[in-house]
Amino acid sequence: MYSGKLFDNINCGPLALKNRIAMAPLTRQCADDDGTPNDEMVAYYARRARGGIGLIITEGTYPADNLSGVGYLNQPGCETDKHQAGWKKVADACHKHGAKIILQLMHAGRVADPRTIKEGEQPVSASDTKSTGWVLYTDNDTELHDRGLSGDWPQVNFPPARSLTEDDLNAVADDFAAAAKRAIDAGCDGVEVHGANGYLLYQFTDPKQNLRTDAYGGSAENNMRFPNMVVDRIRAAIGPDKLISYRISQDGVDDFTGFWEAGQSYVEALGVELGKMDADVIHWSSFNWKDNRFDPSAPPVPVTLKKISGKPFITNGNIFDGASAEDVFDQAAGDIVAVGRPTFAHPDWAYIVASGMDYDWMEFDRKYVIKPAYDYTYAYPTGLPERDWAPNAKMKR
Ligand SMILES: Cc1cc2nc3c(=O)[nH]c(=O)nc-3n(C[C@H](O)[C@H](O)[C@H](O)COP(=O)(O)O)c2cc1C
Repeated sequence: MYSGKLFDNINCGPLALKNRIAMAPLTRQCADDDGTPNDEMVAYYARRARGGIGLIITEGTYPADNLSGVGYLNQPGCETDKHQAGWKKVADACHKHGAKIILQLMHAGRVADPRTIKEGEQPVSASDTKSTGWVLYTDNDTELHDRGLSGDWPQVNFPPARSLTEDDLNAVADDFAAAAKRAIDAGCDGVEVHGANGYLLYQFTDPKQNLRTDAYGGSAENNMRFPNMVVDRIRAAIGPDKLISYRISQDGVDDFTGFWEAGQSYVEALGVELGKMDADVIHWSSFNWKDNRFDPSAPPVPVTLKKISGKPFITNGNIFDGASAEDVFDQAAGDIVAVGRPTFAHPDWAYIVASGMDYDWMEFDRKYVIKPAYDYTYAYPTGLPERDWAPNAKMKR
């Protein structure tokens, strides 16, 4: 049997979690066309809750179809009564299996899928900039056809973005707060504010994209002013008893080897700002949490951010088994681990690890991600039985 800290109970802000395993937020574009979470999504999340995850962090969800807030077709929203009712079904199903669930709220900013931008509107960002584009993360034939793309890993381009005015900033922060309130009313245990991976709030944190000369740009403190404003409004809307997580990264979807040019000094300054934020926990997002691209002899970025901010950390990136999770705790890089691709491929990841048995890990395959084929019944069974799963090292499906 596995005997590490991964299955210890832990308190995270106001939440008592049964273990230290979070499911990382993973976009799937499976909601109904109007952004309503549907029964397939209920089954998908419930399946992973049943698999033993302590904290489900949902896929990035748009707060409002406003100012390029919607990032993807069939992305779920949390803006309407219908959305809220859909999320209630998801939250209830996860709770039934003993997991807590927080809803990730994300505004796409300049990397919103151009097809989601309304006629006559322009995507928004921290400054007047244009993304260099990104590689499309799908094997879905319809999506390739709709976008007129072909081949493996095709490139998607984005139109130029305009900088948000002070009025816009207030409107977006209010949208986040209203959506967070809806998430709580739907039964979620909190929210995660997506400040990572290239989306709007990251566009403020990344000095390459934030060229503002007002109070919202020019230093780590100013770059974090808008993220802080969003968190403060959410706190005012949902109160102290619900969790707020803030997710941050160096990489963006259009900058997979993101690099903060001021290096370690910027990391340290961000650590100070994160320490002041009214979030209960900070979530480091990466594809390998051990990376330090400025100075390989310096500690991994989340170690520095955690130490300087003094906040609890959820740490993510290339954690795939019990030993790689323990490493996070041993190096004081995080209190909770967030596991992404492995929980896509293996809904029972937690129980497989708990069993301590050798397991033939299936390679993560992007075709199971965005609009997965519905015959992939292993991952998406409906009519879930009560949790009575017994780890079985031979079982792949
Ligand atoms: C298909 C896919 C979709 C993702 N969607 C989101 C998302 O909606 N929100 C987010 O913060 N990160 C998203 N991520 C990033 C993951 O949460 C995570 O940071 C990344 O997969 C690395 O962690 P892992 O090594 O455990 O997979 C996504 C990653 C993948 C592969």
